Amino acid sequence: MNICVIGTGYVGLVTGTVFAELGNEVVCVDNVAEKIENLNRRKLPIYEPGLQELVERNHNEGRLKFSTDAKSAVEFSEIIFICVGTPSSDSGETDLSAVEAVAKLIAKHMNGYKIVVNKSTVPVGTGDLVRNIINKHCVDGHKFDVVSNPEFLREGQAVNDALNPDRIIIGASEKQVAYRLLELYSSLQAPMIITDVYSAEIIKYASNSFLAMKISFINAVADLCEMVGADVEDVANGVGRDPRIGVDFLNSGLGFGGSCFPKDVKSLLHTSGKLGYDFNLLKNVLEINEGRVDRFTSLIRRRFPDMKGKTFAVLGLAFKPNTDDMRDAKSVEVINDLLKGGAVIRAFDPVAMPAAQKVLPSITYCQTAYEACNGADALLLITEWREFKLLNLEKIKQTMKNPVIFDGRNMYNPERKKRLGFEYFGLGRKFSNHMPEKGK
Ligand code: UGA
Repeated sequence: MNICVIGTGYVGLVTGTVFAELGNEVVCVDNVAEKIENLNRRKLPIYEPGLQELVERNHNEGRLKFSTDAKSAVEFSEIIFICVGTPSSDSGETDLSAVEAVAKLIAKHMNGYKIVVNKSTVPVGTGDLVRNIINKHCVDGHKFDVVSNPEFLREGQAVNDALNPDRIIIGASEKQVAYRLLELYSSLQAPMIITDVYSAEIIKYASNSFLAMKISFINAVADLCEMVGADVEDVANGVGRDPRIGVDFLNSGLGFGGSCFPKDVKSLLHTSGKLGYDFNLLKNVLEINEGRVDRFTSLIRRRFPDMKGKTFAVLGLAFKPNTDDMRDAKSVEVINDLLKGGAVIRAFDPVAMPAAQKVLPSITYCQTAYEACNGADALLLITEWREFKLLNLEKIKQTMKNPVIFDGRNMYNPERKKRLGFEYFGLGRKFSNHMPEKGK
């Protein structure tokens, strides 16, 4: 099939590339010329494992093209995916101006029947909005359908998620339209669920909000564990073994960041409010999450009451492992808080340092985790990259000023670290230095 993907951010680039990989003719369009020039030179704007090879192969074989020419791309395609950004304002409301602009663009260049697909995360009712805009601006009266096909890929695993989705949701007003879109996915093994447009739109927000709720829930339990001297990792393991709950997304620590969960929970809260429903549960999810950094930095403050001149080695800057994405990264909040106290920061992240330099210009970037820890008063684990789990901490201990670990992701085993001679501080972990000695 001939496909056009408008917006070459995370979702658009991965979606377009994977559709090309599945044998379709794909044109990815963006209005940022530099981005398109770079993509045509196979220089990707993001770090995503496996994506570079896939882009190169499909681009070489001519199935994947990058262009700023929206007119030709729309004319060429039967199916047009809207994959532009949908940031949120301070009130939580989703800014749909990019979606609106794309809808106008599609209307202007339509030359026949088109299926217009919302893949960006958009609030319920956006399908109607896109349909109304196209109706208003399409002078030639061409037929079209607007479908919702939300994306569930995770950064860091996006290619795998797109090729092996756990479900495909198509929200369409006509079954035949949904079936046409499903043809695109026919070679993938995944449950395919057809709904109306509103339900599909809500599925995306409800999914992300539920996952965010799981994280805040376990973080609240972590606080409780601290009060009694229990271990939140053991509790999460025991709770998660119930298949109705599941062990995934019960990792406690600094809480959720990134470009999706904080924005999507706020957006669902905002939409609910507009509809007259007070979704208090989601307010709590956000409140718990927003308190996590403070809880972590308070531990550091208690151990180092005078931070002036203290050197902290920060391991991990990206909002989560396997990405260079710094959007809503907890590292920024933690570091800015410590800098205010006069601390010196030596940081290392395997891939996110170039992106981090833009938001954290005044810290020292190191070539390795070992270099960051050299002479440090404490090690702060902020993003749980696997390589940090494999570090030789005995070697690190020799070079640190004080052997102290603050584990923001509960990645290390507190008992083992203490046996190595470290002071260990985790969040809700038994054997943490600040925990009561109960529950032994
Ligand atoms: C999330 C969803 O997982 C995807 O399904 C969805 O498609 C995507 O948003 C989106 O809406 O586009 P993503 O933001 O890439 O994906 O990252 P996650 O892996 O979900 O992690 C989000 C945040 O939660 C991270 O800050 C992570 O550190 C945190 N987290 C995750 C925890 O604190 N604990 C956990 O147990 C899991």
